Amino acid sequence: MKLLCLLFFLIIVADPCSSQNTFFEPGAIWKDTEGKHINAHGGGIYSEGDTYYWYGEHKGQSSIAQVGVRVYSSSDLYNWKNEGIALAVSNDLDSEITKGSVIERPKVIYNNKTGKYVMWFHLELKNQGYAAARTGVAISDSPTGPFKYLKSYRPNANVWPLNFPLSNQKRTKKNELYEWWTPEWKAALIEGLYVRRDFREGQMSRDMTVFVDDDGKAYHIHSSEENQTLHISELTDDYLDFTSRWTRMKPGGQNEAPAVFKHNDTYYMITSGLTGWAPNAARSFSAKSIWGPWKSLGNPATGKLAQVTFNSQSTYVLTVNGVEDTFLYMGDRWNPKNHIDGRYIWLPIKIKNKKPEIEWLDKWDLSKYNSIQP
Ligand code: GAL
Repeated sequence: MKLLCLLFFLIIVADPCSSQNTFFEPGAIWKDTEGKHINAHGGGIYSEGDTYYWYGEHKGQSSIAQVGVRVYSSSDLYNWKNEGIALAVSNDLDSEITKGSVIERPKVIYNNKTGKYVMWFHLELKNQGYAAARTGVAISDSPTGPFKYLKSYRPNANVWPLNFPLSNQKRTKKNELYEWWTPEWKAALIEGLYVRRDFREGQMSRDMTVFVDDDGKAYHIHSSEENQTLHISELTDDYLDFTSRWTRMKPGGQNEAPAVFKHNDTYYMITSGLTGWAPNAARSFSAKSIWGPWKSLGNPATGKLAQVTFNSQSTYVLTVNGVEDTFLYMGDRWNPKNHIDGRYIWLPIKIKNKKPEIEWLDKWDLSKYNSIQP
């Protein structure tokens, strides 16, 4: 009998598949329910009923897309089941999402009117580095896919932003070539140098997120103007296109990796600066309208390693279901030498005096925290 008990104990305790995660451990290897490190970088979460779906870039050693966008599901946010590939790269060399393209920061939202799941992502065409600067969209009948690729483009062609004075539209300086990083270049860029340059072909779109407001309207927020300025654009009712209403946020502010959430009629945004895969100090902003003006609130990270956001870059802020006012910062700790080994930094956000704050925790679980601080 003793032997039987011992055997039973060994099977339960030693079997990695039966072990359940009961807390977050930011930066550690995070195993899915099959015991494999989760492969969903630059990710975002969509939740439906009791289920969360985590979409992210499936990476190999390099960051180039060889597989596509992977999706996991979970009911508790600690334990994730691999649901396979939501959006697969194409084997057709002529496809814009052919194997070898760059597919980053996928975000999925559900459209109540059409009953479709819509995925937006950052797309770079094969063998063009980061020059294409497009946003892509795909659609599915199910949250786990398969998503069908629809199109990609530089958005907002032939429309001026809402907050762009007529004088800037009409500005016709003959030679708009400036040496980068000079004060003249910076001044020209703030006043719309690249918006004018890209007016006809559409505005650049790299790091991005999507945000659905309480009234069902969705917004696409992306790094544009050579990554110097964020653009916020309204999506059409079916979430598959841009309406032409858009605005520039913090011209020349050099924000990327945007993540948006809302609490009590205030919109919050967390972003990073521009240092590629290397971490930098996060920034935070708030606004009473999605169109701004956005107020700078400084680095939300506090304490040790705040200057490098605990070695992470924002990708999404999750509003946790059923736990009122609970917001979770999701960041990537990139590993450019071996991207598949990139880690996930999930930490609670506290809102103190209308300002988001993130502090480091080695291990934590949802039962012990509340975002809203007195
Ligand atoms: C980062 C960006 C990532 C990826 C990377 C490429 O700044 O946030 O999503 O595009 O640059 O160097």
